[in-house]
Amino acid sequence: MPGLDDVREDVERVRREFDSALSAANDGPGIESVRVEFLSRKGRIAQPFKVLGGLAPDDRGEAGRLLNELKDRAEGDVGKRIAASAAATRNARLEQERLDVTMPGPARPLGHLHPLTVVQREIEAIFLRMGFDVATGPEIETEYYNFEALNIPADHPARADWDTFYVSDTTLLRPHTSPVQIRVMESTPPPIRIICPGRCYRRDAQDATHSPVFHQIELLWVEEGLSLAHLKYVLELFTREFFGPGYEMRFSGDFFPFTEPSVQVHIKAPGAERWLEIMGAGMVDPAVLEGVGYDPERLSGFAFGLGLERMAMLKYGIDDIRAFLSNDLRFLRQF
Ligand code: PHE
Repeated sequence: MPGLDDVREDVERVRREFDSALSAANDGPGIESVRVEFLSRKGRIAQPFKVLGGLAPDDRGEAGRLLNELKDRAEGDVGKRIAASAAATRNARLEQERLDVTMPGPARPLGHLHPLTVVQREIEAIFLRMGFDVATGPEIETEYYNFEALNIPADHPARADWDTFYVSDTTLLRPHTSPVQIRVMESTPPPIRIICPGRCYRRDAQDATHSPVFHQIELLWVEEGLSLAHLKYVLELFTREFFGPGYEMRFSGDFFPFTEPSVQVHIKAPGAERWLEIMGAGMVDPAVLEGVGYDPERLSGFAFGLGLERMAMLKYGIDDIRAFLSNDLRFLRQF
């Protein structure tokens, strides 16, 4: 018949075995199997409780206390290990999934405006400051706005100056922005003070100074009492703002069916030898004013058509108009 000493021995042995099994367990499943082995209902710590009934009544209390102490301690130890193991697993995962917010992100190249857009906006800003509005018109234009309303009837030899792309019998890709003058005057009572930037098309063979697609900026000012002197003044202001001070300007005679007189405008950089043509211009022909219902006896006006590419080429020293459309980043990145 087992006595208290046997129970003591059992408790000591099971405790040692439990301690070494638990310290050998090094992960969650290992700890769980130690728990099942020692602490489940029929586990190794439950076994010795069975002998309690066979002990001398005086020994039962002490034996029960020893066994309960063993069980409580083992449960406490297993609980601590389970908690520690769960924390370790969680920490390992956090460590692994950690985001280093100080690491530089993937670089996204920043785009910027095309040099022609930059120059267009710069020119717009200059004229907006002078009190002009920006107007636009369609790139596919009718013969009426492109020619007739600009005083170029069907049999007029000047039509041959504009080598146009026809879209249908009566519509074409506009070869200049002058038709916008007509559209604006038709829909707006005077005075008119506008610029019209836009894309134009001509059947020109491509070379360093010609492109079948290019841009113009048209200007139109119609009001009472305007003369060529006002045109000259506006152009001088513009040249100084756009190119800088010290430029000389020269007007020479030209011909456009929609202006009378018509001039060609040249400028010369300070110290330069060569005169550079920058635009065609002139006083709006009275026939054009009459055609849109304006009174040419009361009103006068002037207009010009500026090549945007030419302005950008002069300003930045670009020698080939094809660079604007070639999408070569080595060129575009310089602006
Ligand atoms: N439209 C003309 C051209 O493209 C330029 C121009 C505009 C001339 C306005 C006079 C007045 O050649």
